[in-house]
Amino acid sequence: MAKAPHSLFARIYDLFMVPQDRFGLAHQRARLCGPAKGRVLEIAIGTGLNIPHYENADTVVGIDNNVAMLRRAIRRTWETKIPVELVVADAQTLPFPKGSFDSIVVGLSLCTIPDPETTLSELHRVASAQGELRFLEHVRSAKPSTARRQDRYAPVWERVSGGCRANQDTARLIEESSWSINDMWSSDGGGLIQGTAVATQA
Ligand SMILES: C[S@@+](CC[C@H](N)C(=O)[O-])C[C@H]1O[C@@H](n2cnc3c(N)ncnc32)[C@H](O)[C@@H]1O
Repeated sequence: MAKAPHSLFARIYDLFMVPQDRFGLAHQRARLCGPAKGRVLEIAIGTGLNIPHYENADTVVGIDNNVAMLRRAIRRTWETKIPVELVVADAQTLPFPKGSFDSIVVGLSLCTIPDPETTLSELHRVASAQGELRFLEHVRSAKPSTARRQDRYAPVWERVSGGCRANQDTARLIEESSWSINDMWSSDGGGLIQGTAVATQA
């Protein structure tokens, strides 16, 4: 099976996500973005579903490597008074100097970006000394029966979902990176995590 092309993925993404937002994910997005302060970087911003949830940011820079997704995000920048700049970029090699951002937001994306370890260290590089990482990710479930089910459908899901690894243990990847987890919430089924981490100093 071939991977869905980037423009097709962009076209179907909101059809798939907007109902999930209506059934609760929007609250999680608000908790993810609402408290983000100062100069904010959101990586893999996609079609911009998080944009209307920023409340305290001075500015938001949103990057994604899929131009078709970013085109769809443009209209969401009109739903906020906070200045939002959209940039085509790879989260693994960000075009920003060291220490550029106070808050870094990542939502439902560390599972899709090919090299999450490199991405986490790149985020650490562009974060300020007191920089905060805010994350919301669907992850390998802590429940063995759910995790086994994820393992079974993960290869097919990866092909149809633009590369999403449904059974990735993202909490472990964050814990093993140059970020230190401050607080973390897991959903009942253990398939969704949300939290914040601070940049550890070298
Ligand atoms: C599942 S979508 C999440 C979109 C958005 N964050 C949200 O919460 O709705 C994953 C996004 O990761 C982006 N992506 C994948 N690999 C990337 C990379 N190397 N650099 C930047 N963005 C990437 C995809 O283009 C897609 O927009």
